[in-house]
Amino acid sequence: MRDLPPIESLVHVSVVDGVRGGRVPREGYQRGWGLQFGGLSEKIEAEPLFRHAINSVGIPQLVSPENRKNIYLLLTRYLPKLPSQNIIEFGTYRGGNALFMALIMRELNPSAKVYALDTFTGMPETDKTRDAHSAGDFSDASLPVLNERIAQLGLTNLLPVQGLFEDTFPGLDAGPFGLAHIDCDIYSGVKFAQDAVWPRMCAGGYVVYDDATVSSCLGATEAVEELILERKIHSEQVWPHFVFRVGL
Ligand SMILES: C[S@@+](CC[C@H](N)C(=O)[O-])C[C@H]1O[C@@H](n2cnc3c(N)ncnc32)[C@H](O)[C@@H]1O
Repeated sequence: MRDLPPIESLVHVSVVDGVRGGRVPREGYQRGWGLQFGGLSEKIEAEPLFRHAINSVGIPQLVSPENRKNIYLLLTRYLPKLPSQNIIEFGTYRGGNALFMALIMRELNPSAKVYALDTFTGMPETDKTRDAHSAGDFSDASLPVLNERIAQLGLTNLLPVQGLFEDTFPGLDAGPFGLAHIDCDIYSGVKFAQDAVWPRMCAGGYVVYDDATVSSCLGATEAVEELILERKIHSEQVWPHFVFRVGL
């Protein structure tokens, strides 16, 4: 399952290689254009590693099929080029995407860890001037059920961390990270996660947002807009979701 064809053999992009504006436009085109218009979506669906991960998760996935494919591309074709392949997810809920990522990473680099952060009891207080979500949304998550699935799959690389990000992340003895998946839907969580994780990313690391371009998450959009203004950075991808690079 590890013999994956290189991205260049799957999608042709005419934009030249190289860093421009703190990201690599060619790589953003490969994934974003490739998935949306370039036939990459079908090619990925046919890959045994993708099918294995999708079929093994065993917990309903909230992440959209397009976002999942982009994460798959990042993990299989881009993350291996970075000095760290550790992953952190801010917003895990029932764990569908965390399991998906851990199943893939076990095949690619079993020593890399996937940290999965959530209250696992639902959303904290939200800001009703910004967020459509309310406290207690997603409270049907269950850490015992997720732990049971992790044990069934023998996934020693997936580490759930229970509590508010604001309480758990500062003391988390982990990193640097090659990829951060921010999927917490509300302004306060996204704002905290992106600011806290930035200095703990490796050079070239990927910060990926599940929901900041989703109609129900304008608070997440606002946090990302602030990131762009404060750090004066450009995105490497806007479809199917925002992707930024750290330290390029
Ligand atoms: C959309 S769900 C995550 C979906 C998940 N990634 C999946 O694949 O199914 C958003 C999650 O963010 C969590 N969340 C939001 N703000 C948080 C915070 N400050 N600390 C911990 N968890 C938070 C909520 O508890 C909720 O489970």
